[in-house]
Amino acid sequence: MRPITFSSLFAAATLSMAAASINSPSGNLTLDVDVNAAGTPVYSLAYKGKPVVTESALGLEGKEVSFASGFALTGTDTATVDRSWQPVWGEYATVRDHFRELAVHLHASDPDRYLTLRFRVFDDGLGFRYEMPMQDNANYVTLMKENTQFRFDADHTLFCIPGDYDTDEFLFSEVRFSGLEDVLAKRRGRHSESQAAEGTVIQTPMLLKTDDGIYISLHEAALVGYPAMLLDVDCPAHTMSAHLAPDRLGVSAYLQLPVNTPWRTLIVSDDARDILASQLVLNLNEPCKIEDTSWIKPMKFVGVWWEMFTGHVKTWAYSDHYRAKPGVTDYSALPSNGRHPANTANVMKYIDFASKHGIDGVLVEGWNEGWEDWCSYRKNRQFLFDKAYPDFDVDSLRRYAEARGVQLIMHHETAANAADYERQLDRAFSFMKQNGYNAVKTGYVGAIIPRSEHHTSQWMVDHVKHVIERAADYQIMVDSHEAPRPTGLCRTYPNWLAQESARGGEYEAMGTNPPSHTCILPFTRLKGGPMDYTPGLFETRLSYYNEGKTGQAGTTLARQLALYLTMPSPMQMACDLPENYERFPDAFKFIEDVPVDWSDSRYLEAEPNHYITVARQDKHSNDWYIGAITDDNAREAVIDLSFLPKGRKYEATIYEDAKNAHWKNNPQAYNIRTAMVDSRSKLRQRLAPGGGSAIRLTPKDN
Ligand code: NOJ
Ligand code: CA
Repeated sequence: MRPITFSSLFAAATLSMAAASINSPSGNLTLDVDVNAAGTPVYSLAYKGKPVVTESALGLEGKEVSFASGFALTGTDTATVDRSWQPVWGEYATVRDHFRELAVHLHASDPDRYLTLRFRVFDDGLGFRYEMPMQDNANYVTLMKENTQFRFDADHTLFCIPGDYDTDEFLFSEVRFSGLEDVLAKRRGRHSESQAAEGTVIQTPMLLKTDDGIYISLHEAALVGYPAMLLDVDCPAHTMSAHLAPDRLGVSAYLQLPVNTPWRTLIVSDDARDILASQLVLNLNEPCKIEDTSWIKPMKFVGVWWEMFTGHVKTWAYSDHYRAKPGVTDYSALPSNGRHPANTANVMKYIDFASKHGIDGVLVEGWNEGWEDWCSYRKNRQFLFDKAYPDFDVDSLRRYAEARGVQLIMHHETAANAADYERQLDRAFSFMKQNGYNAVKTGYVGAIIPRSEHHTSQWMVDHVKHVIERAADYQIMVDSHEAPRPTGLCRTYPNWLAQESARGGEYEAMGTNPPSHTCILPFTRLKGGPMDYTPGLFETRLSYYNEGKTGQAGTTLARQLALYLTMPSPMQMACDLPENYERFPDAFKFIEDVPVDWSDSRYLEAEPNHYITVARQDKHSNDWYIGAITDDNAREAVIDLSFLPKGRKYEATIYEDAKNAHWKNNPQAYNIRTAMVDSRSKLRQRLAPGGGSAIRLTPKDN
């Protein structure tokens, strides 16, 4: 490694410089950048002297001009940055952003082209992006392909989901490069309206593990004005390369110069806990763009939502008839089907429940016109976002909720008609504000309209940013489902509280999630931002959800409590029905108590796909909360409390699997007990197969 001692060095355009190299602040990561014989920029990354990424190509293929080869390295800039920032909400009150930066300036001739590669090397990983400055021979670039490669040196283990332009609602596979093709061949095309990418393609965020025990989380940060990244995998060569969803002309992105691409990110450590703790993706996003953030409030919520999943007899739709039927134009003329939970009396019951239990909000899915045409008739994908069904009294509900200090949460299912949503957006947000709604859950189920676009395409990335920015103008918080996978933009737009963008808890009612699923999501999907996973499932019998089915959801009841810690989100649902919570009031107490915003987080134990134990400190008190989960296997979590301040005593309220609990046949068996602990304590918590444990620590010094 050649130490870089200069802060800025330029050479004449004709003079090619030697390779550049830079270390992370502590020196554990080393990045090398060079230009090969073809003039293609290449980079490699090593961790504690071991190769992580071996020499890999970089470059962009424009339709008009190429930025992929013929380059000479003409100059570099370096900088060391050590700063910190305070997120509006999150896992930490303060985030340190400490890195060494290397900007590599490249020039190619015939015609003249300029490109800068910007690398930031942190102690926990690497981020890099392409920057195309203004230049005479490229005013804009029609991007056909991004050539970014990630070459690995062995048959590592991958934790990934199949590449699809439209959905990420898959279970993860744990598979080596050498087995990936077989696994993907079996899993392609599972979703009716999604388009699987051709070839051996996976999605980010994904995780690799080397046989030496190095973990590498691969994703992107600050996805703006560009399609989301998938990865082509050349299995025999252990190589991945960027794969961008093309539009119907084969174009990936239309770029107006000057432009920066999103950051490509690699979080690297030989300790799995560091992958979970890493804030690298957030650090690579722009600071908050919203000046007054006082209206952004993390929250817990309940909703009529889960009623539609129990037995599948309740409907989002008000009627079983279709507005699209010839001659029918007015919903109030349609007969109610009597199975519509988003009605005034029922929503009032949820408001009462929320108010009694200190839950902040109630989500009202199925309140607006349009569901009949989409759910039953499948012809019309137009919802009206300012027109309530006849049995949903907007005015009385507003008054009822306000009087009880409960917020109503709006729902905008677009059925992927994003174009129409944009047309209605201002009306929809004005309607929300007029009627007291400060948060909305959006949804994009199905194939995108306009038709040639995809959930991962540049058009949709632009659409969602537009929605978030307009929402911020109206002081509205957003929880988006089926949007492009998050890339840390919640730092820049903290009104974007949560996203789904993965296979959520709802699949417990639609096919089940194995316990390991929530042991891999924090290493993958959550690296982009919080997930609206919808924990809190107390009724786990599959027959409750699907007539004729036997068996259980992939969880114990105590594990559902732990998910509030292991799946952190500033917008956290208690998904089950009030009547199911009323059967287990002592366990529900944990959901009432658990915060959704943290001043500190300590990952105590972690192994992807197997187990996670995390402790978090409430942002608004001195209480700590701990969550521990395991996979299919029983496990003893060893919870070392040495992070507590010395000399202070805490009462631990422990919610745990009973001795005979098992997700398969005894999931609702739990105990609640208390113990006095301090910083010298080590709790040994037995977790049942598919189980978990949740603990509240309250200071008790006197
Ligand atoms: C899919 C979402 O993930 C789910 O939460 C929602 O209830 C349905 N779409 C209907 O909008
Ligand atoms: Ca979904």
